[in-house]
This record gives sequence, C-alpha cells and structure tokens, in this order.
Amino acid sequence: MSVDVVTIFPEYLAPLRSSLLGKAIERGQVRVDVHDLRTWTGDPHRTVDDTPYGGGPGMVMLPEPWGRALDAIAPPDGPGQPRLVVPSPAGRRFSQSVAEELAGEPWLLFGCGRYEGIDARVLDYAGQRMVVDEISLGDYVLCGGEVAVLAILEAVARLIPGVLGNALSASEDSFSPAVDGLLEAPAYTKPAVWRGLEVPEVLLSGHHGNIARWRREESVRRTRARRPDLLGD
Ligand code: ADE
Repeated sequence: MSVDVVTIFPEYLAPLRSSLLGKAIERGQVRVDVHDLRTWTGDPHRTVDDTPYGGGPGMVMLPEPWGRALDAIAPPDGPGQPRLVVPSPAGRRFSQSVAEELAGEPWLLFGCGRYEGIDARVLDYAGQRMVVDEISLGDYVLCGGEVAVLAILEAVARLIPGVLGNALSASEDSFSPAVDGLLEAPAYTKPAVWRGLEVPEVLLSGHHGNIARWRREESVRRTRARRPDLLGD
C-alpha cells in the first residue's frame, strides 16, 4: 500500500515510523510519504489560510496550496488515482469496517485540515478524479486531522496481510465480525496470582469448551455494561 499525507505539521506524523507501521514500512509492505503543505504556497509568508467568506470565527485553509499539492502528488493524467481521506468531525464515522475498506485500497492520500477546515472546493476539485472520503473519529473536535490520520492508519495497517505477526489476532479483535460485534473478554498472563489478585480459575483449567464459554459470557457482560448500543438494547 502507498500512503501520502499532506499536513502543515509534518513532525506530528513522526510516530508513523515506529511500532508496527514502522516495521511494515521497513519491510516494504507500506510506503509512507509525509508532505508539508507549505511546499505549495506562493508567497514569502507561506500562507495556508484566510478568513471565511460569510464571516464567522477562525480561518479556512486556502484552496490553491491544496490544489497544487494534489496535482503534484497525484497528477491528473497519472496512471492511477489515490483515495483521498480527509479527517473531519463532519465526516462519516470511522469504524472497523471502514478500516477494512481502506485496507483494500492500493493508494491512500490523507489531507490534514487545521483551523476551521479546508475550502470546500478542494474536495469538489479532487472528486473530479478521485474518491473522496471525509472521515470522523467520533463526536468530538480535535485541533486538526493529524492525530486522526495516525489512528486511521494504525487501524488500517494492521489489517494488511503480513503486517501483523499473528494473522488470527486481527480477526478476533473487539468489533471484528468474528466476535459478533461484542467487546473482547479480559486477558491475563503469568503469574496466576499477582499482588493477591487471581486469574479466573477457568482460564487455568485447560478445558477449552469452558474457557470459550467463559470468554463469551464475559464479552456479553462487558458489552452490556459498556456498550449496550452494540447489543441493540
Ligand atoms: N478533525 C477534527 N476533529 C476531528 C474528528 N473528530 N475526527 C476526525 N478528524 C477531525
């Protein structure tokens, strides 16, 4: 998979190079290029924003640097086009199934907005030749799209075949269809007693049927307590 990220804070994306995604980059399974939007400004101050037409608070990102960035990274007459992902609280809600959708794409281009967002014509312009996806992490407002890109990319990268060491673990996560949309049961490791706290006995029993039943019951209990919406309650 190829990934391009356009931002005015390239250093914010440094964590992409560590951990699981960093290893995937080293192994050549994922290519990631982070671009500074100011590369495509045209004035000495390298301006990227201006006041909104119609008034209102804050600043809006200028269309021209974004237009140039898109044309440079994904030329209109190029052999293929990326899917443009723009994190925004006004986007569709991110989820495991959206992560699965994105993991199937050969090329993702993330556009990080700051301030009150990007001039809306940029997405219309991009939409003339690429799929444009505005995605929200949830119902809260971040200062910009950078943290959302880190979260989205981490969720996507671990679904790419060969990126996760244990192929089964991705399909058994909370929210993956394999566990029927239930939250995962709690997990324990050694020692069996730690600071007076014991691992549930059934997990030490070696009885696979009882263990599976216990995990299922814990999943339902947790889901009912924490996320009743997932049970349709
Ligand atoms: N940018 C600002 N807030 C955001 C959110 N909730 N999700 C994604 N991108 C954002």
